Amino acid sequence: MRCALVSDRLDLRAFLGAELARIADRIEVVDHFAAEPVADIRLAVAWNPPRDAFERYPNLQAVCSIGAGVDGILACPSLRPGIDVVRVVDPVQAQTMAGFIAWHVIGHQRSFATYRDQQRDRIWRSLRQRSAQSVPVGILGYGEMGRTVATHLALLGFPVMAWSRTAKSAVSPVRVFHGREGLGAMLGETEVLVNLLPLTSETQGLLNRDLFDRMRRGGYLVQVGRGEHLVEDHLLGALENGQLSGAALDVFVDEPLPPAHPFWGHPGIVVTPHDACDASAGAVADTIVATADAIQKGERPPHTVDRERGY
Ligand code: NAP
Ligand code: GLV
Repeated sequence: MRCALVSDRLDLRAFLGAELARIADRIEVVDHFAAEPVADIRLAVAWNPPRDAFERYPNLQAVCSIGAGVDGILACPSLRPGIDVVRVVDPVQAQTMAGFIAWHVIGHQRSFATYRDQQRDRIWRSLRQRSAQSVPVGILGYGEMGRTVATHLALLGFPVMAWSRTAKSAVSPVRVFHGREGLGAMLGETEVLVNLLPLTSETQGLLNRDLFDRMRRGGYLVQVGRGEHLVEDHLLGALENGQLSGAALDVFVDEPLPPAHPFWGHPGIVVTPHDACDASAGAVADTIVATADAIQKGERPPHTVDRERGY
């Protein structure tokens, strides 16, 4: 099956690399901007597709993301109703996320930023050692990423809470919450808040002043969802007034983060360039093949998202 690679931000051919040769007997990839003819394209792989991208493909049946999130594809105005949108579910990606989150949670618990400053100034001074048990972590989103992160943090000794849209049965030791009331209850006990939500109309702007005010004073934000979850000025305000002591930000409304952006130089903020964890090229290639198989059999591809729900 022919598959169009659609992105104006990322070289998808380079990203998939040697995996393209591995699946070449099944999938022939064509570059979006060169693809001719287009009537036989039923499958595309996309990341931040241009607004008119899918107009080119009148017989398109499915679009695969190259990651867990599909917000960029769902937001594309040329994505017609009825086209399946497929995400990648990669346990290794989730495990890499867990390591990334643990880095920041432990960094806050053990005051790594202060040690870094002390080293810069050649100061030998012991800091108070806080136990993991004394730092409750609240996770927004208890899906593929949230569950793996919760398990890893619990193993490290952190009291872990997780919030989802629908009710979940509690898997000890993770305490689960859902809905608006559940969010309030979790935030009241949260010192480190980890955002692992998908970007939807319901979750956009959720990380705002009101939410920060409901956390424990001096809390910490780890933001790895999407930039649009965060009201940027409200974060700066919460850092200014001490409601938050710091934040680790991996995703931004404008990516790359513009050089003049105040986050770059803020002493309480750690910036990483949307690098928490990529799905592996192998997992993406497997997703493409499984989607092509499903199209050929006239079935719904595995990991097709609910377009109404937005994830
Ligand atoms: P997922 O498996 O679909 O899980 C999403 C979770 O969010 C589910 O628990 C869902 O609740 C919950 N949720 C959705 N809308 C909600 C709402 N309105 N209120 C409360 N909870 C809500 O997604 P995932 O694979 O864990 O990935 C989550 C997100 O992480 C991605 O969409 C992406 O934005 C981000 N991500 C970022 C990176 C990075 O490198 N920075 C890497 C991977 C993923 P239910 O369980 O009730 O449905
Ligand atoms: C990365 O941001 C992903 O959604 O996988």
